[in-house]
Formats: sequence, structure tokens, C-alpha cells
Amino acid sequence: RHGTVIAVDGPAAAGKGTLARRLAAALGLPYLDTGLLYRAVGRRVLDVGADPRDATVAEAEARALTAADLERSDLRGPMADMAASAVAAIPAVRAALLDFQRDFGRSRGAVLDGRDIGTVVFPHAQAKLFVTASVEERARRRFLELRGRGVAADPAQVEAEIRDRDAQDANRPVAPLKPAEDAMVLDTTALDAEAAFAAALELVRERV
Ligand code: C5P
Repeated sequence: RHGTVIAVDGPAAAGKGTLARRLAAALGLPYLDTGLLYRAVGRRVLDVGADPRDATVAEAEARALTAADLERSDLRGPMADMAASAVAAIPAVRAALLDFQRDFGRSRGAVLDGRDIGTVVFPHAQAKLFVTASVEERARRRFLELRGRGVAADPAQVEAEIRDRDAQDANRPVAPLKPAEDAMVLDTTALDAEAAFAAALELVRERV
């Protein structure tokens, strides 16, 4: 299984992270949450008081990113979500993060989750999953996750934020959110985390 790369893409709050982490553990592969990279860049841009749509600042912050930035505790939440999506639409930011993602996967293989892993980062990945669920179900899961972390949230607002972010991610010109032609689509609307993992493992095992 040396050098095996598994791409897990999909819209916001589809459960990609949990699934990808479990797949990695089951297959003995390293795991990378690529959304964290964009989140950390967005945070750095907010820290310097700039607009996350400012391409010059965002590119500089992407190039200055450190491992410590990925450990920050403020990378989740509505502000961080939208800042990540804004910097992710900037081509120079994506270019600055590409080598790190490729190097991570290349050496020992990996499971990576994101939006463009199967389309751009690893177009020749051995297995590509596109994990999705209805927007209502994704909003419900995100709301419960926030509540579990003690964050007060309004269900309608959570759903609106997910719709906005998906629209922004799917409509950007560079590396838009979409399934790769050869991706296996896994709709988890009616599946709990356990069933989703079992289905994903079965799909992936046919390829690796
Ligand atoms: O996956 P997560 O929700 O943490 O990603 C945060 C944001 O980062 C996404 O909304 C998307 O704009 C961006 N992203 C991306 N490409 C990836 C991973 C994340 O554009 N491979």
C-alpha cells in the first residue's frame, strides 16, 4: 500500500473529516485535513486586519504559514469558515498550498480530505470518494456539532451559512467543488457515521 493516495472531497459538513480520519487509521495511512490549511490562512489574514478577499495579503499569509498555525484553536466557527472559503477562491493562495499537500501524500501515501483533492491535487489518486448529503442533513449535523462544543447557534443561520459557502466553493473559477469524473459518490444523508464509514471502506478497498 506504499504511496497509496485516497482523495475524499465534498461539500461543507458532509462528514468528510471523520470519514477520512477513520479510513486513514483503518488503512495505516497518514491523514491530512486540507481545509485546515485554508482556515489557517484565513485566520492569519483576519489577524492582520485585512479582508480575506485581498489577494496580495492572502498570498503573503499563505506563504508564511507555519505548522503552529494549524494547531490554533480558533479555526472553526462561522468567521473562520467564511474567511477560509474567501482565501480559497484566490488562485495564488491555492498555488502556495499545493506543494505541501502533494509532498505530504507522495512520500508515504495518505488520505486527504478537501474540495479539489481528486480533481487538482491528486488527479491520479488510487481511490476518490465524493462524500455528500442533503443540505438540510448537513446543517443538522453541523448544528449538533456546534451545540456539542457549547457554541450557541441558530439552525436556520447554520443552514444559510453552509449554502453560502458551498455556492462560493462551487462557483469559483479555480479548483471549484465538484466530483472528479472518476470519483465514487457516497451520499450519507440516510447513513450514520458508522454506516458511512463501512460503505466508504468497502468502496475504497476495491481500489487499493
Ligand atoms: O473542509 P473545510 O470545511 O474545513 O474547508 C474550509 C474551506 O476551505 C472550504 O469551504 C473551501 O473553501 C476551502 N477548501 C478548499 N480546498 C480544499 C479544502 C478546503 O478550497 N482542498
